[in-house]
Amino acid sequence: MTDPAAVPAATTLGGIAAAELAARYGTPLYVFDAAVLRARVAMVQAALGPRVRLLWSIKANPSLAVTTVLRHAGTAAELASLGELHLALAAGHPATALRFAGPGKTDAELTAALRAGVGCFHVESFDEITALARLATATAAPARVALRINLPQQLGGARMRMGGHGARFGIDAADAVAAARAVQAAPSLQLCGLHVYGGTQLFDAGAFVRQAEQLCELATALEAELGAALPELDLGGGFGVPAYEGDPEFDLAAAGRGLQAVLQRFDRPDRIWFVELGRFLAAPAGTYLTRVVRTRHSGGTAHAIVDGGLHQHAAAAGVGTVVRRPPLLERTDGRPGTAACTIGGPLCTPADQFAADLPIGPLAIGDLLQIRNSGAYGLSYSPHGFLSHATPAEVMVDGGAARIVRERGDAAAVLVGQRP
Ligand SMILES: Cc1ncc(COP(=O)(O)O)c(C=O)c1O
Repeated sequence: MTDPAAVPAATTLGGIAAAELAARYGTPLYVFDAAVLRARVAMVQAALGPRVRLLWSIKANPSLAVTTVLRHAGTAAELASLGELHLALAAGHPATALRFAGPGKTDAELTAALRAGVGCFHVESFDEITALARLATATAAPARVALRINLPQQLGGARMRMGGHGARFGIDAADAVAAARAVQAAPSLQLCGLHVYGGTQLFDAGAFVRQAEQLCELATALEAELGAALPELDLGGGFGVPAYEGDPEFDLAAAGRGLQAVLQRFDRPDRIWFVELGRFLAAPAGTYLTRVVRTRHSGGTAHAIVDGGLHQHAAAAGVGTVVRRPPLLERTDGRPGTAACTIGGPLCTPADQFAADLPIGPLAIGDLLQIRNSGAYGLSYSPHGFLSHATPAEVMVDGGAARIVRERGDAAAVLVGQRP
C-alpha cells in the first residue's frame, strides 16, 4: 500500500480537481470559487460588525457572476464607470444601492447614472458639483451626494496611494466647507455624507482606522460649521491580500477592533457606515490556471513558456510593482520541484515573465500551473489586446459543480469593429 502522506496533494477548487477543470474548459482559465466569495463577505462583516454596510468595488473584477454571488452574500456596490453600472444592474442590484465614484465622470456618464437612479454620487471636484447640479436639474432627477475627501495625510502602509498633497482624487479637506456649501446651494443636490479612499493593497490596519477617525472628525467639524447632518460615512477600504511571495496578511481583526473604537465615539442612530472592498473580497476566491506549451534552455536557464501571460494577468507578471517578486505560482499536481525554472508567457517582451528561477521544475509540456489569489485585478487589469490572443474563459465553481461564466474569447474577435 502507498503511504497517503507520500502522495502529493493536487489542487482542488471548490471540490473539483484543477486538472479536471483545465481539461474540461481549456487553459488559460480563471476559476472563481463561490463559497470563498461568500466566506469572505461573512468574515469581513463579522469583523467590522453589523453597523457597517459592505460595498463591492466592481472594478476589482467586473464579472457578472462574481458580482451576483457577492450581492446574494449581502454586499451593495460601488462603481466607477457606466460599464460597471450596467453590470451592477444586470447582477440584480437596485440602482439605489449603488454609489458612483471616480474623478473623471463625464456629463454623459452622470446623466445616465441620474436617469438610472443611482443612490449616491461621490463627487471629487468643484467642477463635478457644478456639472452634477446642472445635469440633475436638466434630467429632473435630484442627486444624493457625498464629498470624496482628500485627507492631507497619505494612507500609510498602502502599496498604491491615492491621497495626500496634490492628489488627483477627492476634494482637499481644506476645501470641504466650500464644497459642502456649493452642494447645499444647488436645489437639485442633497448632501448626505463624506467618502474617503486613500489607497489599495493596504497592509496596515492601523492606517485604515486612523483614516476613518480623521474622516469622522472632519464630519463632526463640518456638521458644526454647516448646521447640517452628514449621516453617511464611507470609510474606504483597500485591505491588502498577498499577491507575491513574502507578502504579509492584512490584520482584519485589528481593523475590526479599531473600527469598533471609532464607532463608539462617532456612531449615532442616523449614521450609515460603508466600507468598500474589491481585492479583499475577491482575490482569494480566484485561481488562474495556465499550461506549459514549450520548454527551452538558454545559457543554463531552464524556461517554461506557458499559454497565459502578462496580457491576461499583468499583476502576476509584476506590472505596477517596483521590485519584482514571484506571484503565488505553483504546480497544481502538488509535486515538489527539484530544479529551478523561469516561467513566462508568449508575448514579445521580457516583461512577460511570471517568475525567474522558481524551484518548481523541471517542467514539461502539458504541466499545469496555478497562480493563487487571482480573483481581483486579473483580466480586466491586463492589456489583453496586446498581441491579439483570445481572452481566457472564466468558470465559477459552486456546490461541487462548475459552470462557464465568461466564454473563452475568439482570436478572430480582433477584427470586431475594425474597418480597412
Ligand atoms: C475609490 C475606490 N474604491 C475602491 C477601490 C477598490 O480597492 P481594493 O480593490 O483595493 O479594495 C478602489 C481601487 O482603486 C478605488 O479607487
